[in-house]
Amino acid sequence: MYSHQLHRRERLMAQLDGGVAVLPTAPEVLRNADNPYPYRPDSHFLYLTGFAEPESVLVLDARAGRTILFCRPKDEANEIWNGHRYGPDDARELFGFDEAYPIAELDQRLPDILSGQAALYWPLGRQAAFDGRVASWLDVLRARDRSGEAAPVHFGDVLALLDEMRLIKDEVEIATLRRAGRISADAHIAAMRATRPGLYEYQVEAELLAGFCRHGARQPAYESIVAGGANACTLHYVGNHSRLNDGDLLLIDAGCEFSAYAGDITRTFPVNGRFSAAQRDVYEIVLAAQLAAIAVIKPGVCLNVPGDAALAVLSQGLIDLGLLAGSVEGVIESGAYRRFYMHGIGHFIGLDVHDVGARKQNGQWRAFEAGMCTTVEPGLYIRAADDIPAALHNIGIRIEDDVLVTAKGHEVYTDSVPKHIVEIETLMERL
Ligand code: GLY
Ligand code: MN
Ligand code: MN
Repeated sequence: MYSHQLHRRERLMAQLDGGVAVLPTAPEVLRNADNPYPYRPDSHFLYLTGFAEPESVLVLDARAGRTILFCRPKDEANEIWNGHRYGPDDARELFGFDEAYPIAELDQRLPDILSGQAALYWPLGRQAAFDGRVASWLDVLRARDRSGEAAPVHFGDVLALLDEMRLIKDEVEIATLRRAGRISADAHIAAMRATRPGLYEYQVEAELLAGFCRHGARQPAYESIVAGGANACTLHYVGNHSRLNDGDLLLIDAGCEFSAYAGDITRTFPVNGRFSAAQRDVYEIVLAAQLAAIAVIKPGVCLNVPGDAALAVLSQGLIDLGLLAGSVEGVIESGAYRRFYMHGIGHFIGLDVHDVGARKQNGQWRAFEAGMCTTVEPGLYIRAADDIPAALHNIGIRIEDDVLVTAKGHEVYTDSVPKHIVEIETLMERL
C-alpha cells in the first residue's frame, strides 16, 4: 500500500553511513483556546511515511536495517471526540514499518537505539525543542560510557539528504502534482467565468475555494491572491476585500493542495472581459516572456536560463513601452528593470509550494533533470508615478504555470487555463 514511501526510506537509509536518522512530524498548533489550526504534517515526514497523524517520529536504523515509528497510542475516549488513530500496531502493519511504539516511549528507547551508532542525522538546528531532545538522548548515552556504551560522534542534517531526494519527483508524485494542477486550473477557469465588475475580490476567491474543495482539495496550497487593479502591484496582496472595477485587471494567484501536493497558477485578465490597449501591450510582453522561459526548459539546461530568457523579453518590452531607456543589456546590467519586475522567474514545486532543492552546487547553477517540477512566473508591476504615462498606472500582470521536466523536454500541466488574449476574451464573452 505504501511501497513508494518504503522505497524512499530504503534510499535514505543507504545514505546514512550505517547510522541512524530521526525525523519528527510537525506539531499541532493552537489557533485559540483549544481550537487548532487545520493540521498539516511535516512534508519530509509525509514523504517518507505517508502517515498523517501528529505526535509521530520516524527512526531509521541503517545498521540494523530497521524502520521504527513512534506514534499516538489508541485511546477510545479520545477517539470518540477527535476521530480515529491508527495506534502503533495498525500503523506498523499498514504503513510497512518494522517496529512501532507509543510516542511516550521515545525518550526511553532512543538512547538504546543510538548506542554505539556511528552517525546520527536529524533536522539539525531547525527546531530548538527537538535539538534539545536529541541532546538529552546523547547525554544519557555519555553518562553510560563507563558501562561501554558510546554516543554517535558524527552528526548530519537529514533534511539536506531529503531535499535532494524530493527534488526529483517519482511517478506517484508526478501523478499527484498533475491532479493538483488540474484541480487548480479548473478553479481558475471557474473564477475567470464568474468575474464581473462590482463583485468583491473575496467573491471571486469563493469560486476558487469551492473549486478546490469540490475535488477533495480542502485547503489552498497558500493564501490566495485575488488582486483587482492597483492591488496587483502588491506582490503578496491577500486582503481580497476590494470591489472589482470596470476597466481594471484582476490578478489571481491561487493553487490547491491535493493529497499534500501543491498547485500554483497565476492568471491576469480584465474584470469586464476586454483588455484595453495599454493592458494589452503590457500583457503581451509578460506572456512572451513566460513562453520564452518555458521554451528553453529541458534536461541539461541550467536553472538560470529560463529566467535570463524572460528577463531579456521583459527588458525589451519595458524599453518599447517607453518606461526605460537604453539597451536591453544596459537595463539588465544596471538592474533598472527591478522597478517593474522585482521577483524571480519561479521556484520548485512539490509537497511545498516553494519546494526544496538546492539551485546551485559548488557555486554553479545546476542543470534541469527529468522529474524536476518548477513554476514559471514572470510579471510586470507598474505603480502610479509622475514619470509613468497615466494609461499604464496600476497595471500589475503575472502569468504563472507549473512545468514538469521530462526526458525529452517539458510538460506544462496547468495551461488549460486560457492565457492568450483571444482565448481569455472568448471565455469571458457574455451574450
Ligand atoms: N503563490 C506563490 C508564488 O507564486 O510563488
Ligand atoms: Mn503563485
Ligand atoms: Mn509561484
